[in-house]
Parts: sequence; structure tokens; C-alpha cells
Amino acid sequence: MKKLITNIKSLRGELDIPGDKSISHRAVMFSSIATGTTTVENFLEGEDCLSTIHCFRKLGVEIEQRGTEVTVHGKGLKGLVEPTEVLDVGNSGTTARLMMGLLAGQPFHSVVVGDESIAKRPMKRVTDPLRKMGANIHGRADANFTPISISGSEISNIEFHSPVASAQVKSALLLAALQGEGEMVIHEPAKSRDHTERMLQAFGCEIEETGNTVRLKGNQTLTGGIHITVPGDISSAAFFIVAALIVPNSKITLKKVGLNKTRTGIIDVVEQMGATVFYENKNEDGPEPYADLIVETSELHGIEISGDIMPRLIDEIPIIALLATRVNGTTVIKDAEELKVKETNRIRTVVSELTKMGANITETDDGMIIVGNNTPLHGAEVNSYGDHRIGMMLAIAALIVEEGEMLLQNSEAISVSYPNFFDHLSDLIS
Ligand code: S3P
Repeated sequence: MKKLITNIKSLRGELDIPGDKSISHRAVMFSSIATGTTTVENFLEGEDCLSTIHCFRKLGVEIEQRGTEVTVHGKGLKGLVEPTEVLDVGNSGTTARLMMGLLAGQPFHSVVVGDESIAKRPMKRVTDPLRKMGANIHGRADANFTPISISGSEISNIEFHSPVASAQVKSALLLAALQGEGEMVIHEPAKSRDHTERMLQAFGCEIEETGNTVRLKGNQTLTGGIHITVPGDISSAAFFIVAALIVPNSKITLKKVGLNKTRTGIIDVVEQMGATVFYENKNEDGPEPYADLIVETSELHGIEISGDIMPRLIDEIPIIALLATRVNGTTVIKDAEELKVKETNRIRTVVSELTKMGANITETDDGMIIVGNNTPLHGAEVNSYGDHRIGMMLAIAALIVEEGEMLLQNSEAISVSYPNFFDHLSDLIS
């Protein structure tokens, strides 16, 4: 049980936001299946991305990791070896799903396992279309849950209409399609993050994006020997963006935050609520744009958040829900069913934990309704339920608690995506 810091008077200073989790995973995966030696800078040393490194080492790839610097000696798509042990993805859904796509086309047997939370997360969204492409996949509940075993087979590319806007699904299918015959076409109901598409281009692959559709021809090779700079993770920055907005007299700078348009829904939301985010040192030279963000305490109002913006802020809903408790009026979050199949059912865990603190928040079928109007939040004993983003949201909520102690169970989950989160928080307080 961790005692959280409460009743903070202001936040000041600047932070180097750790590397983007989605891009760090992909940097290791794509450089492993590329030719040549690729170097990665500002890699996220969180447990999820370390799980990806461990899995690729088991597939015979030599990877040197010194903190945030990683060197990958690529084996090419045909150079991976049959693992002698199960591939343990830990808590990482991205590792699990993307690996399944890659392994579907490899000429060997492998088994993907994960922790308790992974064992409950639906894999059929990936294994079903992979089977349609010819993959040989088995697992519990007709390959919906880990452990999942995959025996390599010939892959034929298809045209697929994904029922969910999910970058994990899209990326898994693209990884299989790279090894398949013919053209792969994926249509999404709304555009999900496009880090895979951008990185494939950086490795010399041809991929076409039009609206919510991507097309990729099979049998492509990836040319490595490149250098990848991972920008700061906007999903990690989001906790401090909200902290600065709600703690009185605050002004902070968050450095080198990734600003890929498929991820910046949180900025659109805080601006619609009435905040101004200032940018400095914009860099648009590489595949992923980034800039320093300056955020200060602001008076905000409630809005409705729904529709196509959802994939652009899906991981930020827990911290947006906290923000909504501090604004004038009501915020309605709709079309967020995907939250039910994240590390926890995030509609339920957000509502239950903020309710313990006195928030006026109601669960709905596809989201939540939050009445702000500065309803006072008080101390409580709360739980992350092993979900990193719930843990961080509660630690930010504690900052504005004026009465009572805040105790967080399962705080260690935070190291999945932000190992130095509490150090960064202390840096802004002192
Ligand atoms: C991710 C995609 C999203 C996101 C997850 C990371 C990725 O999941 O929630 O944290 O790296 O592709 P879905 O694709 O399932 O929406």
C-alpha cells in the first residue's frame, strides 16, 4: 500500500517525458525483423517494452539494452529461430497481439503466454482474421485467450473490414501480411494510431494509407541499419497535462512529447474544455513529430466526448474522467466500449475508484457521465487493480485532496509504462 502525496499548492518545472510505449515496442519488433543493425534512442524502459525485448531474444535476436539506448542486430524476416521456451508477454497486450501476427507466418511452433490480466483479454479480434489468412492458431475458447499456440503456415493476404478501430489488430495483420502472398487491405471504422505504417516506411516498405484504409503488398523485406528516435509518450504526458490544469497556480513544460495526430485527442479535449496548450521547439523532421508542451492551471467546462475521436484518446479516458470532476458542468463520455477490454474494465475501475473519493460519476453502457462543479474529492483507500493508468490517475487525483489520507493498493503496476512516474511527480512539487 502506497501513501500518496495530497493537498499540493502548485506544480512547477519541466519534465523529460519517457519514450512512447507503442513506438518503443515497434522499434524493437521491426528492427528485429529487418536486416542490419538498428539503434533506438529514448526507448521506454517500462516493463511492457522490456517484455518485447525478452520475446525477441527468445526468437534468436541479439539485442543490447543500456537504459534508454537499444541496439538491435536484425535477423531479417526469415532469420528468427524456433523458441525453446514460451514467449511471455507479461502485461503487454501490444506485445501479445503483434507477436501473434508475426509468428503466424514463421515456419516454426511457438506459444504466447502472459499474466493474469492478459489471460482475460480478447485475442479473437486478431486470431480470427489471422486464421482467415491461413494461420494455424490454437488457444482457450477457440483461440480467444492465452496461452495461444501458433504453428507457422503459408499466409494469403485478404481484404478485411475490422469491426474495431484497433492499432493492435491492424499492426498484427500487417506483420502477417508482410510474409503473405498478394495484397492486404484493412478497413477500420475509425482511424487508429498509425505508428506501424510510419515505421514500415522508415524501414523501406511500401504501404498506402487512404482515409481509414491501409494497403500493403506481401513478401516485402525491411531494410534496417537506421536510427530511431522515440518521442515522449503523449499518453504519459497526459497525466501531467491534467495535473497542471487542476492543481492551482501551476505551470509546467513537458519536453519532446510525440504529436502524431492519431494520438493527440487529449489536447483537442482540453482545448475544447477551454484550456490553451502552448508549443515550443516543434520538430517535424522525422517520421513522428514532437514538441515541448507548456500547460498551466485553467478554468474549464464540461463537454461531450464521443465518436471518431475515441481511438485518438482511448488510453487517456481515465485521466480525462478525473479532469471532468474539476470542470464546470457535466462531461459525457460515449462510444468507449473498448475501455472494457483494457488492462482492467476501465469504465468500471475509473467509476469505482473516483466514487470512493466522493466524485459524482456514473457508469453507462459505453462510457460515463461526470458532473464536475468542483465537487470536493476526499482521501480514500483506492486500488489500481494492477492497471498502470488507473494507478497514475489516482496519484494525480491525490494532489487535489484537501482532507484525509490517500492510500493506493497495487501502485507497482505503474512501472509497466512509467517507471519513474513518482520521481517526476516529486520534481514538479519541490
Ligand atoms: C496500442 C493500441 C491501443 C492502445 C494500447 C497500445 C498499440 O490498443 O490502447 O495501449 O501500441 O498499438 P488497441 O489497438 O487495442 O485499441
